[in-house]
Amino acid sequence: MEEAFMQRTVTCGSLRASDEGKTVILNGWVARNRDHGALHFINLRDRYGVTQVVVDDDASEELEKTARSLKMEYCIAVKGTVRKRPDEMINPDMVTGEIEVKAEEIEILSECATLPFMIEDENNAREDLRLKYRFLDLRTKGMQDRIRLRHEVVKAIREFFYKTDFYEIETPTLVKSTPEGARDFLVPSRIYPGKFFALPQSPQLYKQILMVSGFDKYFQIARCYRDEDPRGDRQLEFTQLDIEMSFVKRDDVLLLIENLMKEVFRKVVNVDLPSHFRRLSYQEAMEKYGSDKPDLRFGLEIGDASTFASKSTFNAFLDTLKEGGYVRYIVAPKTEGHDYTRKYLAELESAAKIYGAHGLAWMKVENGKLNGGVSKFFAGLDEEVLNATGAKDGDVILIVAQKDFKKCCNSLGAVRNRLGNDLKLIRPGYEFCWIIDFPLFEYNEDEGHWEAAHHMFSMPQAEYIDTMEEDPGKVKGDLYDLVLNGYELASGSIRIHDIELQKRVFRICNFPDDVAQERFGFLLDCFKYGPPPHGGIAPGIDRLCMILAGESSIKEVIAFPKNTAALSPMDDSPSFVEQKQLDELHLAIVDDKKDE
Ligand code: AMO
Repeated sequence: MEEAFMQRTVTCGSLRASDEGKTVILNGWVARNRDHGALHFINLRDRYGVTQVVVDDDASEELEKTARSLKMEYCIAVKGTVRKRPDEMINPDMVTGEIEVKAEEIEILSECATLPFMIEDENNAREDLRLKYRFLDLRTKGMQDRIRLRHEVVKAIREFFYKTDFYEIETPTLVKSTPEGARDFLVPSRIYPGKFFALPQSPQLYKQILMVSGFDKYFQIARCYRDEDPRGDRQLEFTQLDIEMSFVKRDDVLLLIENLMKEVFRKVVNVDLPSHFRRLSYQEAMEKYGSDKPDLRFGLEIGDASTFASKSTFNAFLDTLKEGGYVRYIVAPKTEGHDYTRKYLAELESAAKIYGAHGLAWMKVENGKLNGGVSKFFAGLDEEVLNATGAKDGDVILIVAQKDFKKCCNSLGAVRNRLGNDLKLIRPGYEFCWIIDFPLFEYNEDEGHWEAAHHMFSMPQAEYIDTMEEDPGKVKGDLYDLVLNGYELASGSIRIHDIELQKRVFRICNFPDDVAQERFGFLLDCFKYGPPPHGGIAPGIDRLCMILAGESSIKEVIAFPKNTAALSPMDDSPSFVEQKQLDELHLAIVDDKKDE
């Protein structure tokens, strides 16, 4: 027999003035219990809202005793009558603020231990405490709202695709370990000693194979696993909306995503996005904004300082230019209430140095002249510098000289972002853009070879195919990223579907044919059987929800995330396992510390 309890007839968010006089049962948690002598006001909360329950002074002794015994977060059932609140007691901030429920019976469904923190709208407890007691943290309004938002995002995505002829297909989560950028999570095979599965970093190869199998249009809400250090917008496991299509060109994929985003934003946050998103080439994004994920909610463009820097007497600039390097600038604008003190300029310099700048040179503009910092090296060049940069009185010109283009741009990009934040230049809203024409390869200085900038399955642009090997650094790929408010939201590409071309890309990335066959043989074999031209993309759902929720960490939109130390404080994972389990998996733990 099931244990009987007073089962709810309504939720805590549903009652209105028109329900006056009804007898109802509510189930929920005690969010507040104000005791005015014989009178009790209990705020009862569930997922749908909060309802005020009143134990009147005419209550039976037993009811009054139960009310008095209620502690925070007890789970209870209340039977009572809906009544209108007196006018002066109406609470316009509560959807149920016009009514209250006069309790006739209260049943304690379960008690609650002493709380580690108060469950308020937003939880200000330390992150680890929040994650240890995530089940309680999730009861806060902030988390409840964000988890609902995430549900709505995923629902809107599915609704969008179900109207089209895309298939939703699941791909395996125990896969072959293939190098795809990050480190794999490995799963030892019990049956085959010494062999491992990997958890997928993304369904990349499987979705490409599905195209060869003729499925034509595929999507999946896919869990991905990457063994890398967690950051604000990165977790060890995360969720992608994974998409692949056959017989498409780049613009077909971009259009699909623009339409998808428009629908999701309209449904979830009631915002109308423009029909098409701005497109910037990688080169332009790096030059103007110092980033391949520029925040376009503010201006502050970066410019080329090489012409006037070459006329200066500052050796750091002259040497960099002689070496074929880059000297670029950004103008920090005069802003009411903001002083460009030496301390602040040093902070900007530290931000630049993280991205490889050797330093951040500065000159102030005062009375139409350059002043301070490196201005002594620009004697007689005031007018030229002011004309070139457009800098005005009170502005500060900030300059980075670097041999490496990317480091030069990224350093100023970091300064730009700091200024955007500190000077409150960031407009509210959503600024999408596409970044296209990425380089296909990047040189890995540490390992001394080229590697794929995105992944090795992306198509080089046609004009570079014949001569790719001559200068891999020059090759542009048919790659595209979707950027939103300074975050990389999605990445994708048109794929290679030709075995020979694929092998050439593998070779450039230091995978000679035998190694490539060993690692990616299944893809190469599959490409022998009539692969269609295809392409795809994968927006990160955690990042999308994070931005929609106005948060700066994806942990805020994930029910059970790992912390910054890559642990889950709630279930204490990862954890040691029993020797028996290790034996079954043919694993032995080598204790590094034993020999110390
Ligand atoms: P990529 O590796 O760029 O591409 O990932 C696509 C998108 O997934 C999100 N993302 C992450 N989100 C949270 N935590 C992480 N650690 C993390 N890593 C990535 C980002 C990113 O833009 N297979 C290709 C896609 C393709 O070519 O179709 C891929 O995975 O939002």
